[in-house]
Amino acid sequence: MSANDSNFRVEQSGASDDSIQQVHARLLATKPEKADGYSKLPLVVLGLMCSAIFFGSIYLAHFSLRFDPLVYSERANREKPGAVKIVPLTRAQLGKKVFDTTCLACHQANGLGVPGQYPPLVATEWVTGNEERMIRIVLHGLNGPITVNGKEYNNVMAPLGAVLKDEQIANVLSYIRASWGNSAPEVLPETVAKVRAETSSRTTFWTAAELLKIGN
Ligand code: HEC
Repeated sequence: MSANDSNFRVEQSGASDDSIQQVHARLLATKPEKADGYSKLPLVVLGLMCSAIFFGSIYLAHFSLRFDPLVYSERANREKPGAVKIVPLTRAQLGKKVFDTTCLACHQANGLGVPGQYPPLVATEWVTGNEERMIRIVLHGLNGPITVNGKEYNNVMAPLGAVLKDEQIANVLSYIRASWGNSAPEVLPETVAKVRAETSSRTTFWTAAELLKIGN
């Protein structure tokens, strides 16, 4: 028996090269082939989630109305019977804020003032009469004797023209003209601006006598 013969026998007893390669090939075929780089699927899902959150936030910002229980309705701005409508505040309603912070301390929340000190704003000819006088009082102040609803006052109201803008003066005067039973037309910012321009050179407080010359 030659050396070659024994080699041949060893190969015969085990598996041949061919058969080993076939088995490997079969095993490799069942394993999924690894893709190059990364899979795009998670990125697509992530993108969808991000856009869902993005458009969701825009939707809420538009339609939630801060989830106010009194006004929250997805269909609030569609014309439907029973739909809630958002009505902007009127000039007088806006003026209440100005009144509460700048006039209330003297003229009181009920507009009745303080007897002998601060005159009332309820049913007075100064409030319901010519708006030009009232605007001047707020812009440059008032002092000296004044008769309000038959009672004499002789006190000082400080000028507020530097503190309040035309819009705020129009709002607060509209508020006192529409409150406590008063019902006079509202005052427009343009009128306040006009009076402010006309009286811009004024440096002293008004007196009632001067303002009465303006007439009703
Ligand atoms: C510091 C107290 C004080 C504040 C604040 C004040 N007033 Fe007066 N107001 C007076 C006094 C005092 C008089 C009367 C002045 C006088 O005796 O000459 C008066 C007079 C008036 C008058 C004319 C008389 C009448 O009662 O109808 C009007 C109108 C008026 N104020 C409106 C306002 C408005 C509007 C505000 C706020 C923007 C305001 N006042 C803020 C004290 C004040």
